[in-house]
Amino acid sequence: MEALISEQSLQTRIGDMAWEIDRYYKRQEWYRNTQEPVVVIGVLTGAIFFMADLVRKLSIHTKLDYLRISNWSYSMSPKISSLPFTKLCNAHILLIEDILDTGETLRKIHRELYWEKPSSMKTCVLLRKPDKAPADIVVDFVGFDIPDEFVVGYGLDHKGRYREMPYVAVWSEEDEQRTSKNEVDRDKSFHCG
Ligand code: XMP
Ligand code: MG
Repeated sequence: MEALISEQSLQTRIGDMAWEIDRYYKRQEWYRNTQEPVVVIGVLTGAIFFMADLVRKLSIHTKLDYLRISNWSYSMSPKISSLPFTKLCNAHILLIEDILDTGETLRKIHRELYWEKPSSMKTCVLLRKPDKAPADIVVDFVGFDIPDEFVVGYGLDHKGRYREMPYVAVWSEEDEQRTSKNEVDRDKSFHCG
């Protein structure tokens, strides 16, 4: 699979994003006065590597937590299956998501987290498909704008695979054909019991 965004470009940009995020919070009066930790919430599973690399480059105080959301299919709206353990009332939230595509996932998460009455909520995404992302979904920190292609790697998966790749690649038609053929061959040669 050919890289769309190399490991080196990812790490360089994430370093810059950490600098932008640090600068934003260090300019907030509440942060200067209280040094209260920002509650960084990663969206499982796609955001794990991005969040791990980003938070280790931040110098502000943070608390880390996660939420899990399932996208069963493009026709059904996403469902939150696990909320963060941290109390979010009056907290300052920084939400970390892998990709902003149609915006349905972030719309759902924003709605749900605002119910908890946080003092502030900022959203950070590694990737955004600007041709598809709706104007009403506000993201505050964006790593890369990418073309409207299905991408894998660095947390993003195809049928649960390729998350561990250290770079982001476009999932091509040839990749699809090659893997479906391998799956058929495996099914033919493998019998349980
Ligand atoms: P929406 O459309 O709700 O998408 O903004 C957000 C979620 O859908 C998944 N997604 C992708 N996963 N390659 C992937 O591996 C992609 O190109 C892609 N586009 C959307 C992802 O889980 C994201 O959180
Ligand atoms: Mg996701």
